[in-house]
Amino acid sequence: MKIVKNFKNVIEVPDEGIKTSGEKISTPSFLKGRVDRVLISENCLKLRVKEMAKELSRGRKEIYLVSVLQGSVVFLSDLMRNINRNVKLDFINASSYVGRKPGKGLKIDLPLLEAKGKDIVLLEDILDTGNTLAFIKNYLLKKERARSVRTCVLLDKPARREKKVKLDFTGFKIPDCFVVGYGLDYKQSFRNLPFIAALKNY
Ligand code: IMP
Ligand code: MG
Repeated sequence: MKIVKNFKNVIEVPDEGIKTSGEKISTPSFLKGRVDRVLISENCLKLRVKEMAKELSRGRKEIYLVSVLQGSVVFLSDLMRNINRNVKLDFINASSYVGRKPGKGLKIDLPLLEAKGKDIVLLEDILDTGNTLAFIKNYLLKKERARSVRTCVLLDKPARREKKVKLDFTGFKIPDCFVVGYGLDYKQSFRNLPFIAALKNY
């Protein structure tokens, strides 16, 4: 694994993964045979999330977070506790339509509390094709009439991008693999891992 010292701006994660100097990585036994390698260690996540909290607070008195369920909840809980401003919080979810309707087969499931006229920071665990985040951002601006939406993703996986989405804050840029842990799942499993791991046989 590559040892990382400096966490400024976006971190590009190599195939071999990253950790901090002297950090011990242990994988729980229930992961045996399921996970290929740890891609981002617990320390690296902690340090980068702290930086992101600082970055998105700059010049703001209050932060209104809208978190995309369910994958972003671990990221959210660490991020918000590192924000040194008043934080307001909402959740949103987009799920697939059955049948053909506008919006790339997605619909919004949850009503928001107070998006109208607000400056929103939209939190997502990972940007893959870009379809989900593009759809939700557009929904917040057009339907909920938010004043502005800044996007904040923990992971950017550019390999399979279909829709261009402007990312205002990015934690890590990762190679093309299926990742689990720190909120991200494979068939609802592995969300509780404290690190990000690459799944085997992907
Ligand atoms: P997109 O619309 O393709 O950008 O998909 C984003 C959603 O797909 C994310 O919110 C995740 O729920 C899921 N996803 C994409 N890649 C991964 C991955 O590597 N691990 C876990 N979930 C993923
Ligand atoms: Mg998701």
